[in-house]
Amino acid sequence: MQLANSDLLKLQNYIDGEWRDGASTIEVRDPANGELLARVADGSAADAEAAVAAASAAFPAWKRKTAGERAAVLKRWHQLIMDNADDLARILTLEQGKPLAEAKGEIIYGASFIEWFAEECRRAYGQTIPTHNPAMRLNTIRQPVGVVTCITPWNFPNAMITRKAAPALAAGCTVVIKPPVETPLSALALCQLAEQAGLPKGTINMVVGSDAPGIGRVLTEDARVAKFTFTGSTAVGKLLMAQCASGVKKMSMELGGNAPFIVFDDADLDTAVSACVATKMRNAGQTCVSTNRIYVHEAVHDQFVEKLRAAVAELKIGHGCDEGVAVGPLIHRRAAERVNDLVQDAIASGAKVELGGDFLSHGENYFAPTLITGVTDEMRIAREEIFGPLAPVQKFTDEDDVIRRANATPYGLAAYVMSENIRRANRVVEALDYGMVACNTGVFSTAVAPFGGCKESGIGREGGVEGMAEFYETKYCCFGA
Ligand code: SIN
Repeated sequence: MQLANSDLLKLQNYIDGEWRDGASTIEVRDPANGELLARVADGSAADAEAAVAAASAAFPAWKRKTAGERAAVLKRWHQLIMDNADDLARILTLEQGKPLAEAKGEIIYGASFIEWFAEECRRAYGQTIPTHNPAMRLNTIRQPVGVVTCITPWNFPNAMITRKAAPALAAGCTVVIKPPVETPLSALALCQLAEQAGLPKGTINMVVGSDAPGIGRVLTEDARVAKFTFTGSTAVGKLLMAQCASGVKKMSMELGGNAPFIVFDDADLDTAVSACVATKMRNAGQTCVSTNRIYVHEAVHDQFVEKLRAAVAELKIGHGCDEGVAVGPLIHRRAAERVNDLVQDAIASGAKVELGGDFLSHGENYFAPTLITGVTDEMRIAREEIFGPLAPVQKFTDEDDVIRRANATPYGLAAYVMSENIRRANRVVEALDYGMVACNTGVFSTAVAPFGGCKESGIGREGGVEGMAEFYETKYCCFGA
């Protein structure tokens, strides 16, 4: 792999300030063409235990540092990431598949969490509480929860790590991270830069490993762990929550979604189409907040479909490192086959493929950006998280009815509303049972605002002041006379 800074290519686990080999290695391959990129140490459950022990030993000293001292180290980390953004983006595209411009965007987005939380940790204010008894003085202080363990996903190999680790470290917690086996190189490069920035040994630890159940058990059940944070599917999240329950761990869970995208007849259709393409085709549809169900008012349905077809048809498909590519491969063949299954199921139930609808010859993990009409809420495509470049359109006629349909899902992560009518937009945004609602835009994620869902889409928030609060314990202090 050609990099300006070859130090970024780390192939070992990072535990207690040391780079450690595993008993064997894991192959990391380019999803665009299957090329072998690297072999990375395969960490074990015992490595996870060593990492938790290191984080636990490092916690008292890191916690005692002032917020300003922690912020200074985190700001150095942020700067190093920005200085190496081109190399980090290249690593990310090669192991994950997303286009280089998107990968660079993710690196900058990921770094922004570090900068923002480095600034925010200086404001960990407590309260002085007006007392109930003149002989007593009451206050609260905020203290770091302790050792935080994280399991992060392959769809955002950089930003989902910084979104968890930055607030934890800023608050004074120490962390153990298990990145996915598909994209460990981006994760280990981040660790290398954290070490260079001066994060003390044991404050950040990383274990890549194919024994997901064994490592996951340590990260959720070890008595030294105070909090567990996870981004991934609802099914796996439920298992991990059950494991956390045995030790009553604090948890943040960012799980699956089934995002509705509602286009009213008063929408600006060009805005709606570009928002739809942004939310649907970003990362080839592999984001938790990707649009999953597109509801279009019958009066503008045909016009919207025509404009969407034209916009999707223009997207250049190919290797993420190639100039102008907008849609890369899916992460693996299994993912492409799942998208194909959903398309076939929809066709069998009466839906019509307007564009795409098949695998592509670019490589075995490619699936064509696809537009389908005539979809109904009963089809699998409308009930399951698609996680692919597949836009399924349905018609609606009535505002109350579309709100009811949009809310009729166990998920509650993100929703989108397209309308130029301010009263309607407010009404619908408030009526949708989702943790995040975007109006007249398809891109809303930022370090400064709370990201997260309700219902089976998760617990807790990442980003913003809410994301910081997740890593503090509020202690009530009562001083008698
Ligand atoms: C995700 O898919 O989990 C993250 C998406 C984002 O941060 O926008």
